[in-house]
Amino acid sequence: MAKLLVLYDSQTGNTEKMAKAVAEGARSVPGVDVELKYYAGSEELAEAAAIVFGAPTYYHDITLPIKQMLEEAAKAGVQLKGKIGAAVGSYGWSGEAPQNALEILKNKFGMKAIEPPITALYEPKQTQLEECRKLGKRIAQEIVGK
Ligand SMILES: Cc1cc2nc3c(=O)[nH]c(=O)nc-3n(C[C@H](O)[C@H](O)[C@H](O)COP(=O)(O)O)c2cc1C
Repeated sequence: MAKLLVLYDSQTGNTEKMAKAVAEGARSVPGVDVELKYYAGSEELAEAAAIVFGAPTYYHDITLPIKQMLEEAAKAGVQLKGKIGAAVGSYGWSGEAPQNALEILKNKFGMKAIEPPITALYEPKQTQLEECRKLGKRIAQEIVGK
């Protein structure tokens, strides 16, 4: 069964709400295995048909757990070329993290990025959570059967 990983970091729960909404949208599509968690090892990343990162902005960048996960995958030579990558994230004033995550997914791993990322100023509004659900659903529809 096609697998969609939703991997997120969230210190005050804002990005977590967005990541959960992505997973919820994806789960509305039968035939896709959706996993929502903080971390996936290289083997699991390699098995996924699509990966969505929930990346809050801290100090103008993605946070350490996400960086480490990507670094491990790069070191292990995980092949993600052509797979779908997306990013969502909450921010307070500059909001670079989701786009920074996408740049890595595109440039380092050759993933097919869905742009622009979905961002929310602090707590996501209902409309933004709905966008996240739609993103999850759209990705699940693209990978079902893969
Ligand atoms: C120590 C610290 C540093 C932060 N740095 C940034 C930043 O550089 N740019 C920005 O847009 N928001 C920044 N923020 C705001 C967070 O991105 C914002 O609070 C966001 O809602 C956190 O999401 P989370 O609840 O998923 O962790 C910072 C917050 C803290 C506490």
